[in-house]
Parts: sequence; structure tokens; C-alpha cells
Amino acid sequence: MTHPVLTALGLTDNESGTYLGSGQWSATKDAGVIEPVNPTTGEVLGRVQASSRADYDTIIERAQAVYKVWRTTPAPRRGEAIRLCADALRTHKDALGSLVALEMGKSKPEGDGEVQEMIDIGEFAVGLSRQLYGLTMHSERPGHRMYEQWHPIGIVGVISAFNFPVAVWAWNSFVAAICGDITVWKPSPKTPLSAIAAMKICNEALKKGGFPDIFFLFNDAGSDLAQQFVDDRRIPLISFTGSTKVGRMVGERVAQRMGRSLLELGGNNAIIVDQSADLKLAIPAIAFGAVGTAGQRCTTTRRLFVHESIHDDVLAKLVAAYKQVEKKIGDPTDPANLMGPLNSKDGVDAYLDAIEKAKAAGGKIETGGAAIEGKGNFVLPTIVTGLTNDAQIVQHETFAPILYVMKFKAIDEAIDMQNAVPQGLSSSIFTQNLKAAEAFLAASGSDCGIANVNIGTSGAEIGGAFGGEKETGGGRESGSDAWKAYMRRQTNTINYSDALPLAQGIKFDL
Ligand code: UN1
Repeated sequence: MTHPVLTALGLTDNESGTYLGSGQWSATKDAGVIEPVNPTTGEVLGRVQASSRADYDTIIERAQAVYKVWRTTPAPRRGEAIRLCADALRTHKDALGSLVALEMGKSKPEGDGEVQEMIDIGEFAVGLSRQLYGLTMHSERPGHRMYEQWHPIGIVGVISAFNFPVAVWAWNSFVAAICGDITVWKPSPKTPLSAIAAMKICNEALKKGGFPDIFFLFNDAGSDLAQQFVDDRRIPLISFTGSTKVGRMVGERVAQRMGRSLLELGGNNAIIVDQSADLKLAIPAIAFGAVGTAGQRCTTTRRLFVHESIHDDVLAKLVAAYKQVEKKIGDPTDPANLMGPLNSKDGVDAYLDAIEKAKAAGGKIETGGAAIEGKGNFVLPTIVTGLTNDAQIVQHETFAPILYVMKFKAIDEAIDMQNAVPQGLSSSIFTQNLKAAEAFLAASGSDCGIANVNIGTSGAEIGGAFGGEKETGGGRESGSDAWKAYMRRQTNTINYSDALPLAQGIKFDL
């Protein structure tokens, strides 16, 4: 029987995974089937027909054709298209939020929050469509004018992860759309239904508004099409969100063909709590950061550095908070629950493996440390003490709710430990001491793409640029001037004089 959450969005339990454009979903039935599993029950939620090579070629050809129309459509008019998408998402927020909760396993408020992020970035993109500013420069030559302009780049390939099955696509595709680009999306095979639903909502809104197809979708049963996608010279930009391991491969392959890649990879995010911190803020922020989305955000808090003078107190308060969370672990579609299951059995295995490694390295499990018996991929949120920052397992991003708590004496030492990991996504400090906060934010402070004071590491707003350094990949998406990644810059010099002076005063007299 089709799950009612699917029915509410007009989806069946046998869907085409390929949007070919022109209102057409592919009829391909021989390219494999993807069967997303409900992480709460272990049951198959539905069947998604994977895309064929021919489907892929049709998509890219149609995307190229529509790009020719879209790139010359005025940017504010392109913004109007995204306004309609954001409006449609507002209408379907509850239903799509429930599907994200069901298929990914995050809590219902977080599923709704993810759809809210789509709406927010949509509205941001609408405003941005009138603000794709370039600079003007003063030429060194008389009678010359210099300026730069930003042109669309072409087809943008988006490869997204299971943990944010719809918002990451919206960050990319909505901004790319107002820039004049066409987006082709390959979602995670773990969450194809959320992707199909998001595409249907947006495509219908575009069609009603008389706009062309600017969004395409394919689903790959294996990895052949994904590899072709990454290597495809017709796609000037590949935006990849996922593990550092796969991201490294994507980055290298795209670089081989001199394409651009935008990488959002792993994080190993830390919170520093100094002796002046307001624990009324710090404890819930740490708990949400470490336990929210069952530890499956790239911004999840994985390490905690606590000043030695308050370490035991903070630990006791955190363990008490975790015990409260434990009472509210369950079906994520029930809004009363704070934590759902891990998305997959593989995730549970990785969690158990990390716990074993932590114990073997001398770690002490303060709370949690086990999977929950019964149906679904439920695990206990876990706190580990007794390890040092350089322990191999602490250096590694395990996509699960495991928090390593460590002590420090001086703030510089805490900042050094926070930075001493391969990843560089998000970081924060809880302090009421101005000097500590500024030291954390200074050039010699946090080396992450995101550094916060008195809020946690996760749950960034869309208005800022999102992304991180080092093995996080260096990409920036979402707000601020992240739009520039989706455009090509052209510098223009115009001579309106009767002479031809050369730059740098060079003489070339014929
Ligand atoms: C991700 O986990 O890939 O900052 C994105 C956050 C969310 C986005 C996370 N706004 O936690």
C-alpha cells in the first residue's frame, strides 16, 4: 500500500526517477530500480525506476536547448519563476516536510525546517535576481571605460546527499536559475522520493507560470551515469555534497576536464565552552548540535572542548539532557519526537564501529553507546570522554550522534585543538568573555568556514555563504555572494577615444 505521506503529494509507490523536460517523466523500466527504505521500519517505501543512458542524453540535450532561451531571459524575470517555486513550496511545506522526515528519518520539525530553507533561499534568489552586480573600474587609459559583468555559466550538475535531500538542491538550483543556468540533479539513491516530490512541486509551478523547464532530474541505479555526469564536458559546473572520499574523486575528475566543482564535504565540528559560558545556552546548543538529525548533518557537533574547571558540571548536565532526548527517540513523522533513526543500516554499522574504536582507544562511554533493539535504524545518542583530540576516531567524521568531550586549560589550546583536524566546516565558542570570543574569530582563531559565538555549529541561516575549508572542500553555497560560483565573469574594456593607447604605457609605433 502506498504510504499516505506519498499519496498526500500525489506520488505512487512506483515512480519514474527521470524528469526529461516538456512535462515528461521517462517511461524507462529497464535501467534498474531504486528502493528507498523507511529507516523507521525497515520496509521498502516505494520503487523508483532508474534512468537509462538514453534518458540522460535526452536530458542534457534538452537542458542545452533550454539554456539558450533562459540565458537571455532577464534576470528579474527569472526571479519571478523562482518566486512561484517558493510559493508552491510554502503550500506544500507540511506534506514535503513529512516526506523528508519519513524517507530521510529526521524529525518532523527538522523536515519542515528543511522545506523552510528551500522557501528562504527561493526568496533570497528572487531579490538576488536584481542584484547580480559587477564592478566598474577606472581605466588607466584616457577615453576608456572598464567594467565587469556576470553571465550565466550553462548547465549546473547537482549531486546531493541523503541528509538534506531537498534543501541542498534548492540552494544550488534556485540561485543557479536566477543566474540564468539550467540545473540537472542527481539525488542520493537513499532519498529519491523526496527529490521527485520537490521536482514535481517546482515543475508544476513553473509550468503554470508559463516558464520553460529549468530543472531536470535523473536517478542512477549504480554509479555509471553519475560518473558520466561528472566527466561530461557539457556541464561546466558540478556541485557535489557528500563524503570527503567521494568529493575528492569528483573534484579530481572535474579538474581533469578543466570544469569547475563546488564541494561541500565532511565536517568535524567543535564547540568550545570556556569558564565564563552561559550554560543555559550552551547545553541545549550542544545537545541539538550533536543529536539533531541523529548526528547526520555535515554541521553536526562532533567534538566538545570544555574548560577543565567546569568540565564535570557540563558533562553531568549534558548526560541529563541526553537522557531527556532518549525518551523522545522514535518515529520521526511524529512531531513529539526529537530524534529519529539513522538513515541506513550502514549508518548503524558505522556508529557501532566508531563506538568500538573509541573504546579500544581508551574512551569511556558516558551515555548511549548502543543501537536500540527492534525495528528500524535507531541508536542511542552517545557521549565519549577520555580520548585526546589526536585519537584516530576523533579525527574521523562518523555520521552518527557521537560526541567526544575533551578538557582544556587555556583558550589558545582549545582553539588549536579545534583546528587540528583535516576538516574545516563549522565551529563555535560559548563564552561571555570578549577577548576569548575575538580570539576565536581572529585570523589566528577558528580555521573553519563557519565560526559562531554563543550559538551551536549547525542550523546555519541561508543568508550567509555556507561551506568550509581543508577537506570540507572549499566550496560556498547559499547566501552572500555564493552566486558568483554559478556565473562566469567577463571583464570589458571599451575605447571611446580616437587613439589606441596601450596599457602599461607600451609603445608599438608602426
Ligand atoms: C548539510 O548537512 O549538508 O547548517 C547542510 C545546517 C543546515 C544545512 C546543513 N542549514 O545545519
